[in-house]
Amino acid sequence: MYKFVIRGGNKLFGQVHVSGAKNASLALMPACLLAPGTYTIRNTPDLRDVATMSRLLETLGARVALSGNEQTIDTKHVANFEAPYELVKKMRASIYVLGPLLARYGHAKVSLPGGCAWGPRPVNLHIEGMQKLGADVTLESGYIVAKAKKLKGAHIEFDVSSVGATGNVMMAAVLAEGTTTIGNAALEPEIVALGEFLVKMGAQIQGLGTPTVTIEGVRELHAVDFMNIPDRIETGTLLIAGAITGGSIRVINCEPTHVSALLAKLERAGAQVITGQNWIELKAPVEIQPVDISTSPYPGFPTDMQAQWIALMTLSNGSSIVTETIYFDRFKHVPELVRLGADIEVKENVAIVKGVGSLKGAKVMSTDLRASASLIIAGLVAQGTTEVLRIYHMDRGYERIEEKLKGLRADIERVQSDEF
Ligand code: UD1
Repeated sequence: MYKFVIRGGNKLFGQVHVSGAKNASLALMPACLLAPGTYTIRNTPDLRDVATMSRLLETLGARVALSGNEQTIDTKHVANFEAPYELVKKMRASIYVLGPLLARYGHAKVSLPGGCAWGPRPVNLHIEGMQKLGADVTLESGYIVAKAKKLKGAHIEFDVSSVGATGNVMMAAVLAEGTTTIGNAALEPEIVALGEFLVKMGAQIQGLGTPTVTIEGVRELHAVDFMNIPDRIETGTLLIAGAITGGSIRVINCEPTHVSALLAKLERAGAQVITGQNWIELKAPVEIQPVDISTSPYPGFPTDMQAQWIALMTLSNGSSIVTETIYFDRFKHVPELVRLGADIEVKENVAIVKGVGSLKGAKVMSTDLRASASLIIAGLVAQGTTEVLRIYHMDRGYERIEEKLKGLRADIERVQSDEF
């Protein structure tokens, strides 16, 4: 068990590179089940979630290796079609194997993920999507059991925009007979990346990045070599860390167009932002202005940046309102930020953040991935020492974050800890 020990107060300064997108990797990796062969996925982040997906693919019979950030996945010997509870409970994205296994092998058994720290996270849209494509789906002893001799194209209209369900249906439909149209499809860059990966494999997909995606099923696909996109949430987290510390940073290897909503809010908070093709320079606000946000699907303000934004707003010179529309209960970071001296009140899905003059170091506990990020951001500016416990959450989605922050002059150490 490790914790981060942060001595706050250093202004972040310098250049930092962004790793490959976790949420894209978690979709691209299971897509390799769709055709036997050896795949290369470049710019794969070395993260705990990627390791969990690797283990899941290995239990299905694949061989997975990561050398630096180059991942190879060999799916020639896949012979097991069950995603066990032990792995799915660690990572909900495990449900991404449902579509590819069903499409390629005609059956799949995937554990139901259960709840999570942000409240209920149903998978009904994934199940309904498979049923619309002609699968027979039953729930048996906590498992989704899906069977289909041959999936058939269909029109699937999602009543909620879902990243995971759009990805799962896309992966199932590429090998289905006939045409599938997805209405209210997710527009997230990770889904576009998955679509481009599938197209490179030989799939026929139109309308990627729009609400209507059309897929013409093909008989077979082939293995590919693919470059993963940069992680937009890591990009945003680093920018907010720069902004809260009064620093001046340049984030490289990123995709500025993927963080437009955040950049607009950072500018309104008083930051100076300049973008190039694959870099962003940020000069922190002299005084942080209060700016309201409301989370929404892409291209709106991402729910995965909500906790970090609240951290920034704790030091604004006024009151701001943060509305969470995707996961109503996603405020586990708030009581921990309050321990650092923040003034935040949560009413249902709205947080009212009143800026305080300063934060003060304390011992705080991570409850989930983005909550951990918000606590680290706050710790970087809090007076004295902040200890962030349970950083295994952080390791799910940020590649060697302490090294990156140290490179920007932060005083942060990973320290072994017995505290839980
Ligand atoms: C993905 C991201 C996660 C991010 C989330 C929202 C991955 C691995 N994870 O999660 O980091 O926070 O998008 O941007 O990419 N819903 C249903 N039924 C379903 C599925 C979803 O009602 O079957 C609802 C959810 O409860 C939520 C909304 O749809 O309110 C969006 O969730 P979704 O986009 O599916 O999130 P994930 O794909 O799980």
